[in-house]
Amino acid sequence: MDTATPARIDRRSLTGRDFIETIEWSVAELDETLAVAAELKAARKAGKPTRLLVDKTIYLLFLDKSTRTRNAFETGMTQLGGHAIFLDSDKTQVSHGETPQDTANTLSRFGEGIAIRHDLAPYEGNVWMREVAKHATIPLINMQCDVDHPTQTIADLMTLREQRGGDLRGLKVAMTWAFAPSYARPLSVPQGVATLFPRFGMDVVLAHPPGFELMPEVLEAAQAAAAAGGGSITFAPSMEEAFEGADVVYPKSWGRLDAFGEGSTALAESADYSDWICDERKLALASPEVLYMHCLPADRGREVTDAVIDGPHSIVWDEAENRMHTAKALMALTMGGYA
Ligand code: CP
Repeated sequence: MDTATPARIDRRSLTGRDFIETIEWSVAELDETLAVAAELKAARKAGKPTRLLVDKTIYLLFLDKSTRTRNAFETGMTQLGGHAIFLDSDKTQVSHGETPQDTANTLSRFGEGIAIRHDLAPYEGNVWMREVAKHATIPLINMQCDVDHPTQTIADLMTLREQRGGDLRGLKVAMTWAFAPSYARPLSVPQGVATLFPRFGMDVVLAHPPGFELMPEVLEAAQAAAAAGGGSITFAPSMEEAFEGADVVYPKSWGRLDAFGEGSTALAESADYSDWICDERKLALASPEVLYMHCLPADRGREVTDAVIDGPHSIVWDEAENRMHTAKALMALTMGGYA
């Protein structure tokens, strides 16, 4: 088991590291990141400055929309004393076909970090950002791809530790699909939760309708990581069965892997599963102290009722806030804030 009392690591060792998938960082490295995030959060609450990256610049390249991730990184970088520059494909030469290699080489001559969101096309985003990372001489942070959403799941882990303490072993987490017809969402949050949480000893139960399976190779790697971490990944046939006795429920929508390019057809078909909504009746099947999580944006009235997301079990605003504290920790550690 690699989850119990991990050895502390030297923060300087993370300078220059890419953060593309959580599975590429050891439990000790992730623990250290959470320790830094907690320190930065406490300092912020106490009104103390956290200027670890003065005069440093990170480029935030978004090939998809964002509210939380963009503002977590931009605000976080302001608080670290540096500057974050927002880029999208339309406003850069990426849309004219400039290669990942040339983009990486250019940005590496200017600043100290690159962060990328490229999450809407299965089997493209992770590959594209790895090509940027291969040629960049500065660290790259994945702000969500088709495989993982590592800056989300590490914030979720921080939030669970705040709620349930440092030892999360044995916590039952129901990670389930939910109905949301507006657009096909990436698979990277459920895949990221299944990959990360069992490494900290949690038991993740996955549930989704037929056709909404996760990427098989990601699940295979997650199962191996779960075995090493002392947690587990199992499957349930319905939201109700996954929720039975759960300590944490994380119901959210994702698209059909085989039909991302046929958005409207697949979304219309998903209407067969409009009863996959997290409501008070289903929540009552879980532990009385259950925590309701969602990465946001949530489709109110379809994925979840107002009574649940605004109710006493919901920790969604803590998750959202912790996006910023963990983003600050990741930028500070990888971009030389502790060197
Ligand atoms: N959870 C999350 O990544 O939110 P945004 O899409 O708003 O960045």
